[in-house]
Amino acid sequence: MEVVILPSPTDVGRVVADAIALVLCRRAHPVLGLATGSSPVPVYDELVARYSAGVLSFAEAAAFLLDEYVGLPAGHPQSYAVYIASVFTSRVDFTAGSVHAPDGSARDLVAAAAAYEAALVAGSGVDLQLLGIGGDGHIGFNEPGSSLASRTRLKTLTQQTRADNARFFSSLDEVPRHVITQGVGTILDARHLVLVAWGSGKAAAVAAAVEGPVTAMVPASALQLHPHVSVVLDEPAASSLRLADYYRETYANKPPWQGL
Ligand code: GLP
Repeated sequence: MEVVILPSPTDVGRVVADAIALVLCRRAHPVLGLATGSSPVPVYDELVARYSAGVLSFAEAAAFLLDEYVGLPAGHPQSYAVYIASVFTSRVDFTAGSVHAPDGSARDLVAAAAAYEAALVAGSGVDLQLLGIGGDGHIGFNEPGSSLASRTRLKTLTQQTRADNARFFSSLDEVPRHVITQGVGTILDARHLVLVAWGSGKAAAVAAAVEGPVTAMVPASALQLHPHVSVVLDEPAASSLRLADYYRETYANKPPWQGL
């Protein structure tokens, strides 16, 4: 696992966009795993800027979202399918049908979760999976207690996550209780995992995930089991890391050709 500590969220966006640009350039049909929430927004803004400048294209790429709320009416602005289009995918040149999300409005939600998992497994695999982290250490919507081998399935949100996400809705009551999320095991199948976090509110969760024990109580700690993980942070998000100086020194002395 590589931990990269940078001065600002804008720098986080730039460094992660560099890694995504390499995937787009090296793979004929790149597959990106996209996260929602506010953490990846600096990455998306940077990618949109590069697309607008004519140096990046997503025309050959496919994308898979991590998760989706259950039961929001189609087109609800907080459905993750709508959200990702507004912050990223409709601002660049993904082709129609190339951005996939679990169907949280399906009548048969169990079948919808299984179909999403099957679509992920049937493809060539996710080249780079972007991740945020919840205040309780969740990735996707894998709440504490999620099996580290879990696959895409229905989950119930904790009160903390519903309260954290209530800022995007008009009231806490409007935040769905259920979601479909890729499992921890599904996420670990991606070739490269890139977790982004900024702000002091994420410091404790980041420290638990990166330096704590591997435990289902902190689902993001499962990243320690993956062979290629980059954790890209601003200074406040890194402020509880015991080995922060070591991570800074390592990154400062990294050969420039190496990338994330
Ligand atoms: C939601 C999403 C996660 C995201 C988390 C943190 O729970 N399902 O994928 O990482 O929120 O969101 P934010 O980045 O806004 O703090």
